[in-house]
Amino acid sequence: MKHAVILSASPRKNGNSDILCHQFMKGAEEAGHTCEMITLYEKKIRFCRACYACFRTGKCVLKDDMAEILEKVQKADVLVIATPTYFLTMNGMLKTTIDRFLPKWQELGGHDVYLIITGHDSREGLELAEKELSAIFRNLGNEIRGIIWGENVWQKGEVLTTKAMEEAYQAGQQM
Ligand SMILES: Cc1cc2nc3c(=O)[nH]c(=O)nc-3n(C[C@H](O)[C@H](O)[C@H](O)COP(=O)(O)O)c2cc1C
Repeated sequence: MKHAVILSASPRKNGNSDILCHQFMKGAEEAGHTCEMITLYEKKIRFCRACYACFRTGKCVLKDDMAEILEKVQKADVLVIATPTYFLTMNGMLKTTIDRFLPKWQELGGHDVYLIITGHDSREGLELAEKELSAIFRNLGNEIRGIIWGENVWQKGEVLTTKAMEEAYQAGQQM
């Protein structure tokens, strides 16, 4: 049995990204795995200051929620990264969080990673977000195990009637 940490970056509670995260969770938990979903928007995560103090100390000088999130990410077997597409790529909340990986960037490999990407465009419009996230997480030493495309969804809840629901559920089951 494995443990998944799900980082959901949308500011819209129960929006399309969150819905797919819940589906993943449902599949995973029904298969006997455990999950913790972290809604990044509800956390205090400041911008990296590029002071590089963490290169000396292993710790960030900023006192916010990021240390706790990093610890959870490190301990997880599986990472699920969910973002709405904003201007063709991941949203700022997610990028800000990833920049704050710096203190532990050499210790964040070895995870199976699933990406959940939503947006009102078709697949082609979401591909840049996927490419960037895949490159970032591979570069940290992880394997991209699955991508759930929440394509052609704009308003909250539109994803409910798409095949991405079953895909997210199945990804959770098979994690
Ligand atoms: C600032 C902003 C920029 C957006 N840019 C794009 C975009 O470039 N491509 C796209 O497909 N959707 C874009 N969207 C639409 C969202 O990705 C889409 O509504 C998505 O389903 C939101 O996910 P959520 O319900 O989890 O918040 C944008 C939305 C916002 C608020």
